[in-house]
Amino acid sequence: MAESAESSESTSTVSAGILTNIFLQIVQSPLNIALVGVILFLVYNIFKSRNKDVQVRPAEPELPKLKKKDFTVEELKKYDGTQADGRVLVAVNGGVYDVTRGKRFYGPGGPYAAFGGKDASRGLATFNVTAAGEGYDDLSDLTTMEMDSVKEWESQFKEKYDFVGRLLKPGEQPTNYSDEEDEQPSVTAEQPSVTAEKKKDD
Ligand code: HEM
Repeated sequence: MAESAESSESTSTVSAGILTNIFLQIVQSPLNIALVGVILFLVYNIFKSRNKDVQVRPAEPELPKLKKKDFTVEELKKYDGTQADGRVLVAVNGGVYDVTRGKRFYGPGGPYAAFGGKDASRGLATFNVTAAGEGYDDLSDLTTMEMDSVKEWESQFKEKYDFVGRLLKPGEQPTNYSDEEDEQPSVTAEQPSVTAEKKKDD
C-alpha cells in the first residue's frame, strides 16, 4: 500500500515537473508565445463561427400538410417558395408534390429553383433545368425513353414527397377530394379483405 501511494505521488510530481518545463519553454521564447496566441485566436474564431451558424440557420418548422386539391398550371405557379410560408410544389407526370422538405433544391436560389411551382416533367426527362414552358405541357412529343425517365422521377417523388393533387389539363375539372386522409383509395380498399381472408385460412 505504502509503496503504491509513494509511486503515485512520484508520478504526479514527474508530470507536474514536465508541465512546468513545457510552460517555461513556451514563455521563455517569444516565437512560442506568438504561436500560442495564433492557436488561441484560431480556436476562438472556430467557436465563434460555429455559434453564428446556429443562430443564422434556425431549424425551420414543418408546414402543416396541404389539403389535397388539384391545380391548374396558373395556380401552381405561386408555390415557388417565394410566398410568406415558403411552400414549394412541383408537378411530375400529372401529379403535384409538396417538395418544401427539398426547398434547398427547388426553393429560391436552389439549383432546381426553375422547377418550383412548375411541371418539371420535361426538364427532368431532357436533363434541362430550364425546360418548363409557361402553359400546360401534354408531353406528347417526348420519346418513350424520355417518358420512362419521367416515370422514374415520378416514383422517386412519390417516395420522398407528399402527393397533394393532380395537375389539371386546360378545361379539366378538379377532383372533389374527401376530407379523409386516404391517399390511394383503390389500392387500400382491397387490401384489408385480402388480409382478412388469409388470416381466416391460417
Ligand atoms: C452537373 C450536373 C449535375 C450534378 C453534379 C448534380 C448533382 C446532384 C446531387 C449531388 C443531388 C443530390 C443532392 C442530395 O440528395 O443531397 C442531385 C439531386 C437532384 N438533381 Fe441533380 N445534378 C446535376 C444535374 C441535374 C440535372 C440536369 C437535373 C434535371 C434537369 C437534375 C435534377 C435533380 C433533381 C430533381 C434532384 C433531386 C432533388 C430531390 O431529392 O428532390 N440534376 N443532383
